[in-house]
Order: sequence, then C-alpha cells, then structure tokens
Amino acid sequence: MNKDNIIWQIAIDGPAGVGKSTVAKLVAQKLGFKYIDTGAMYRAITYLVVHENIPMSDSAAIYALAQKANIEFKIENDKELVFINKINVTDAIRQDPVNTMVSTLSAQSLVRKVLVAIQQQLANSFSTVMDGRDIGTVVMPNAQLKIYLEASSAVRAQRRYMQLTDKGYKADLQEIELMINQRDEQDKARLASPLKPAPNAVIIDTDNLTMTEVIEAIINELNKVKSLTLH
Ligand code: DC
Repeated sequence: MNKDNIIWQIAIDGPAGVGKSTVAKLVAQKLGFKYIDTGAMYRAITYLVVHENIPMSDSAAIYALAQKANIEFKIENDKELVFINKINVTDAIRQDPVNTMVSTLSAQSLVRKVLVAIQQQLANSFSTVMDGRDIGTVVMPNAQLKIYLEASSAVRAQRRYMQLTDKGYKADLQEIELMINQRDEQDKARLASPLKPAPNAVIIDTDNLTMTEVIEAIINELNKVKSLTLH
C-alpha cells in the first residue's frame, strides 16, 4: 500500500473537559492533518436555535435549520474561529445559553444525522483528527486509530476551569464540575449515539498524565498502527 494515498482518520472521543480538543488539535498539528471539533458544530447549531427562538422541543424546525446551516472553521491570526451562516460565534458557543442547551440539542437524532453526514464528508476528503463523543462509534467506524480519553470529573473540572480563565472568561470551579457531571450523564444516557468507547478504541486514562504525555501516547499508538498498515 502506498502511504501517500492513505487518508488517515484518527478518532478522539471522551467526556466533557477531558482535554480532547487541546490534545486533538496538537496531534493534528504534529501530523499535518486537519483538526475537526465536532462539539463546536453542535454548539453552533445550538446558538442558531437559541437566537432564532426555536423551542428545543421542535425537532422538525431544528432539523430544517441544521440542514440549511453553513458551518465554517477558519484560522485568523493563529486563532481558530467558528462561523455559522457567516456569523462569528467563536466566543458565544463557549458561553451560556449554549453551554446549558447543547447537550439537549445533541440528543436529537435528526440533528445528529445532518452533522454526522458533514463530518463524514470531511473525514473522507483529507486526513483528520476529529474529536467528539461518537467519532469512533458512528462518524468514523473505520478509523485507523480510535482513542477514548478518560479522567475523573474533578480533574476535568480543573482543566476546563484553567482553559476558560486562560482565555479570560470568568469561571466557577464547583459549578463547572456540576455541569460536567450533568452533561456526562446526559451524553451517556441518551438514545442517539451515546458517549461510549468504540469496541476497538485505545482507552487512555489521563488523570496522571501531562498533555505532552497524552499526545506521545497517541502518536505511539499511531506508529503501531502505521507499522501494521504499511508493511
Ligand atoms: O465537546 P463539547 O463540550 O464542545 O461538546 C458539546 C456538546 O455536544 C456535548 O454535550 C456533547 C455534544 N457532542 C456530541 O453529542 N457529539 C459529538 N460528536 C460532539 C459533541
């Protein structure tokens, strides 16, 4: 097999605040692959639903909105920006009301259908590192490497707190841990693509690992897969 023709798919799943996006972004950078933040896509649709005053219970209207929505990721001055229908929602999607509503929206199977199709199209177009909840199980079931990151909710709350305060947002550690636990429960209990490791995922417990160690572990796993695939 010619390694230049391979489209690499690396799936990184795990619960809220485990550090998926930071790790996935850096792994993608290291490998020269595209990074796709699927959580940002669910968040961007949530933003639109809220701003168009559509009730969360109106799944048909939300489905129609999602089908027409144009989500774009851009990099400007080293900052990753998220746009939906040309509106820059980079900051708004990390705050309330999106924070509190996104889990409810992401439980809707019709919205998932639309976003999964977009994600699959991206994953089949170029080598990607994609992070989310259902990447290894639903979006990229044939990914060459599936990683499931885990960490205790206390450690995850601390990490998300640091992430937010580093970016200049106000944050409350206890409130974050509570929200993380609530979101985990909702994401694991939902019927549509619940959060769970793919059967062939490599599970990495990150509680006692630095970010660099997590990245190294993922690159090591990839090298194992590469040596099996290319020989
Ligand atoms: O990773 P995040 O916190 O930005 O994700 C926001 C929400 O979207 C979270 O509640 C779970 C949901 N989500 C999902 O259901 N499937 C994905 N692939 C990514 C995120």
